[in-house]
Amino acid sequence: MENRIREYRKEKNITQEELAGRAGISRKYLSMIERNKTKPSIDIASRLAAQLSVKMERLFFSAPEAGQGNLPETIRYIDLFCGIGGFRYASRQAFEKLGIQGQCVFSSDIDKFAQVSYEANFGEKPVGDITQVDERDLPDFQMLFAGFPCQAFSICGLQKGFEDNTRGTLFFDIARILKEKKPDAFVLENVKNLVSHDGGKTFKTIIHALRDELNYYVDHDILNALDFGLPQKRERIIIVGAKKPFSMKWKFDVDERKTLSDILETEVDPKHYASKEIVEKRKKMHTASAVPAIWHENKSGNISSYPYSCALRAGASYNYLLVNGERRLTPREMLRLQGFPDEFKIAVSDAQMRKQAGNAIPVAMVAKVIEKFVPLAFGRGGEGDERSKA
Ligand SMILES: C[S@@+](CC[C@H](N)C(=O)[O-])C[C@H]1O[C@@H](n2cnc3c(N)ncnc32)[C@H](O)[C@@H]1O
Repeated sequence: MENRIREYRKEKNITQEELAGRAGISRKYLSMIERNKTKPSIDIASRLAAQLSVKMERLFFSAPEAGQGNLPETIRYIDLFCGIGGFRYASRQAFEKLGIQGQCVFSSDIDKFAQVSYEANFGEKPVGDITQVDERDLPDFQMLFAGFPCQAFSICGLQKGFEDNTRGTLFFDIARILKEKKPDAFVLENVKNLVSHDGGKTFKTIIHALRDELNYYVDHDILNALDFGLPQKRERIIIVGAKKPFSMKWKFDVDERKTLSDILETEVDPKHYASKEIVEKRKKMHTASAVPAIWHENKSGNISSYPYSCALRAGASYNYLLVNGERRLTPREMLRLQGFPDEFKIAVSDAQMRKQAGNAIPVAMVAKVIEKFVPLAFGRGGEGDERSKA
């Protein structure tokens, strides 16, 4: 039996002491319950649920062990804010490992150059503006993927619900699709700062909508592409949700680690190189401790260098990441830093490709998350799995 007491308590800014007092138990005993060291009686459990204003079955739940052998043969999914298909590659890698046939039944991105890249690589043109898509027109699917832009909400109070709180934002479009289509699971990706955005209100609203209004079991963590074998420091929040209870362990084995030497191209077009004078000036200012290294030049011209790249950014200056202080990264190198395979066809200009690569998700990282999460969300047969009782 697992519980989410700590999570709800923190959300409501209640200390252990206060909650224990209100539920008529000692703080020590509450601490043991929170850490799953003891099982409370039904009476205490219901008092805790009442104090936290949450249904008992959502506060306490059994998360079945993943039933790998009982996974569905096919998972139909939709790829929202699809960009250049980072989720498509990540899910393909994960599904292949799990022996599942993945089938993308809908994709959407408003950017016409992203649509060109997506179509060149996956043979289908994503639908444009998602805000103009009626959720009732979407085909049925079991999984939703979305790396959505982070926007502030005009929060009217949690009691008002996501339809009032998030209308006009792109999270609203995810929520209304989940509400109508009720897929078994979803994986969302965003910048790490989503958690602290607007004093934490944005994230609180998102979790509240997914968990308390749309009735998904939800978990999240901040992951770094560097820990997944990609030489790029890129921290992103991943939110996973499923209709059935699950317990996700955010620890991953990495099969393959790539270094900068694996990523960098050997023959590079001279157009990517800075002039001799600029290179000399930079080298006077900075001595790198490693070769190869990516030099990071910030807005005020200060340089630091690492044996990995800082996060690629869509809107960043062309010059902020430099290979050995001498040249810019090529579009192919940027794609490799994000874990896109070399079979990915570059069908747009260098400038567009840089923007699209900077917007994308680290494929290797998200593939690992999906590979671990799908058996938890879809595996059948464990204790507490409603479908196994049918
Ligand atoms: C952070 S990027 C997602 C990148 C993607 N995960 C990938 O791996 O390439 C967000 C995407 O949302 C798209 N977008 C923004 N507003 C949109 C809208 N109203 N409808 C559809 N797509 C939108 C942008 O064009 C952008 O490609």
